[in-house]
Amino acid sequence: MSTADIGLIGLAVMGSNLALNIAEKGYTVAVHNRTAARIDDFVANAGALGDKVIGQADLGDFVQAIKRPRSSIIMVKAGAAVDAMIEQLLPHLEQGDAIIEAGNSLYTDTTRRFAYLAPKGIGYLGVGVSGGEEGARHGPSIMVGGSKEQWHNAEPVLTAIAAKFNGESCCAYLGEGGAGHFVKTIHNGIEYGDMQMIAEVYGVMRDGLGMSPSQAADVFKAWNKGPLNSYLIEITGHVLAAVDETSGTPLVDLILDKAGQKGTGRWSAIVAQELAVPATTIEGAVAARSLSALKDERVAAEGIYGKRSAGKADITLDELEKALLAGKIAAYAQGFAVMAKASEENGWNLPLGTIAKIWRAGCIIRSRFLDQMASAYDKGTPANLLVSPDFVALMKENHGALRKVVAAGALGEFPLVCLSAALSYFDSYRQGQGTANLIQGQRDFFGAHGFQRTDAEGEFHGKWPATIQVDAAKPQA
Ligand code: 2AM
Repeated sequence: MSTADIGLIGLAVMGSNLALNIAEKGYTVAVHNRTAARIDDFVANAGALGDKVIGQADLGDFVQAIKRPRSSIIMVKAGAAVDAMIEQLLPHLEQGDAIIEAGNSLYTDTTRRFAYLAPKGIGYLGVGVSGGEEGARHGPSIMVGGSKEQWHNAEPVLTAIAAKFNGESCCAYLGEGGAGHFVKTIHNGIEYGDMQMIAEVYGVMRDGLGMSPSQAADVFKAWNKGPLNSYLIEITGHVLAAVDETSGTPLVDLILDKAGQKGTGRWSAIVAQELAVPATTIEGAVAARSLSALKDERVAAEGIYGKRSAGKADITLDELEKALLAGKIAAYAQGFAVMAKASEENGWNLPLGTIAKIWRAGCIIRSRFLDQMASAYDKGTPANLLVSPDFVALMKENHGALRKVVAAGALGEFPLVCLSAALSYFDSYRQGQGTANLIQGQRDFFGAHGFQRTDAEGEFHGKWPATIQVDAAKPQA
């Protein structure tokens, strides 16, 4: 008998937590996993929610257990496993049924799968889920893309399991094809930038101000009560405050400074480049992680150049807080600009204000700041967040501090990859007269690429000297 409201395949940590979340919201969920032992374990450990869970080791039985039109969430390893699961499911599905893929898929894969299943009458929803294990269990942010018609079948369940912000669900349909996974990718790119800027500020505290981890922790805890209030600032306070039980040393001082990455930050940077949208903070954050991985080379280079010799940085904690806020505005402006351009290119019509809204709770970048962004978008969609009136006021108030901190980093010999990228982006974006006139002159000189003039319409070439002899070995007089 078909009694389940929805199905879920893939009972690793994220899938199990999502299934329990669904059951807890009062929906019956059919569950399946390639390795059947996991199904038995899951059902055995479901506790009071056990009567809302139907374990099915046979995929056909699993599909039959779901009410029509059927929605099956698949939460398996991204990549080939998703394609394999789709192929296995297909013979059991009927027109109007939907597959909801909720892993961290590359959005172009989602677009391809959506296009593959549409002619078969099977809906395909690519859903970005953010919030880690806790989020999956108690309320993640859910970014939905794909078949709009089938979305409405799954909407009640997905809306119910998502996080809530002031009673509003942090789940929304954002556009066709891979729109949901694309937005999740950019979420992660912004997350990379946010984390890197926080790490850089910690570096200023440690190297520029000589603060201990516990002193830094206290500052982050205080900041979490102000405009920087966010999950990432909150956990930063906890990480910095943690002490290793055996040695009594601050744990952060014992953690190797090599950052891992799974790829979504890199995908964001690549897509930004492909779309020709400047996203230097995201690119900087990815590069900073890659640089961090070069531990041996860094240690060797320090041996060559010596440790930094600069003294104490001439900046206050208040300036650091303001600098982080200004950097964050630039990073979010870039991420949202990438989404705006991708929306145009793919015909997604991404609702940027809604995206800010569904990121206010549940996801890793949840923050007070996103509520301000959501309000800014309620008033209209600016060309860039940097010219949205609310953020103009914030930037005017805080970019001076960002400038001072970046200068302190330069003079104090500690790297601020993202904060300096944020400042340069801001300064470039607000500069009416840039320096690309010279680039155009150079391009025309060596490649006859032509240029536009400020005083006349059309395409022009310069009358450049015909030949210039340059002998690299002999500098010219
Ligand atoms: P397993 O328990 O049988 O390994 C995370 O790895 C989840 O993805 C697990 O539930 C895992 O199932 C599932 N998974 C990985 N590769 C798979 C595949 N090729 N087919 C089906 N499920 C797969």
